[in-house]
Amino acid sequence: MELTAERHSIPLSDGNKIPLIGLGTYANPRQTPKGTAYNAVKVAIETGYRHIDGAMVYFNEDEVGQAIRDKIADGTVKREDIFYCGKLWNTFHPPHLVRPTLEKTLELLKLDFVDLYIVEMPTAFKILTEGIKTTNDIQPGDTYYPKDDNGKYLYHETDLRATWEAMEACKDAGLVKSLGVSNFNKRQLELILTKPGLKHRPVLNQVECHPYFTQPKLLEYCRQNSIVIVGYSPLGTSRDPAWVNLKCPPMLEDEVLVSIAKKHNKTTAQVALRFNVQRGVVVIPKSFNTARIKENFEIFDFCLSEDEMKTIEGLNKNIRFVELLMWADHPEYPFHDDY
Ligand code: A2P
Repeated sequence: MELTAERHSIPLSDGNKIPLIGLGTYANPRQTPKGTAYNAVKVAIETGYRHIDGAMVYFNEDEVGQAIRDKIADGTVKREDIFYCGKLWNTFHPPHLVRPTLEKTLELLKLDFVDLYIVEMPTAFKILTEGIKTTNDIQPGDTYYPKDDNGKYLYHETDLRATWEAMEACKDAGLVKSLGVSNFNKRQLELILTKPGLKHRPVLNQVECHPYFTQPKLLEYCRQNSIVIVGYSPLGTSRDPAWVNLKCPPMLEDEVLVSIAKKHNKTTAQVALRFNVQRGVVVIPKSFNTARIKENFEIFDFCLSEDEMKTIEGLNKNIRFVELLMWADHPEYPFHDDY
């Protein structure tokens, strides 16, 4: 299939489609002025992006929804052209909270449905907001990262299959078109895939994926099970020392990527994105900078050779930038397993 700026969607196992590139919208809410995400999403849609990756825990879903609705209102796109991904945060895993949480996302976005809803992590956290019954009971705040008085994270018993059944009910109710997961390892994916009475399979797994962490084993397992991989941090992250493993050198300065980029008159970022897109891995680079939002979309006017693809695969260091070690003692921490 020839990929172009206008046509770059791939099929999902439920009959829907996903654009191979989306705009990531996570930035530290404390350091990001109001309106930044709004502008970025507008620029992205004007540039040609049709896929926006968001989450309630990014605390900007209202801005993202506003930008999408404004671009629909001014005639740039139709609702059916846009693919929006929302995420169920760790504090909302209990089945009775799943639908109200998705409804809260829809309320923030002011949209009738999301195209994709995914379980953001397999690690349930304690719900400090007891008695959530309606969407009004869900408010942004520190309760998204519950800790005890000693600063230790408070976890909640995880029942991924029960959470998944509540996700299935949201699809049946028409609130979401496709269902997926994120940060799940093979065992956790299998838990869902082998659930008795499974009604809707997860169509994708969103995980870290880029030339330094190419995910060969998980990718192969997912291919065998018709699960698409969506690669987060496809450029090697913002390198925020608060949560990024800085033992791994900056990927965009890699000499091999630099030389391949020079050959194609492209940037290393464009080469890193093209590498994944060309092998069917969806990428969701975050940028709130107009020039870089445009740069990251200019990946449909060149092609990496088979040799170049192999060379980039060879850069894999099997080291995560995003280890999430602060939750390594959670019983469902996904990254202790090989894949
Ligand atoms: P910025 O928003 O200033 O462009 P993530 O791993 O969450 O996708 O983050 C990607 C990081 O890389 C962000 O810090 C983003 O910052 C930066 N970035 C995005 N596009 C490019 C690019 N083309 N070249 C260099 N850095 C980029």
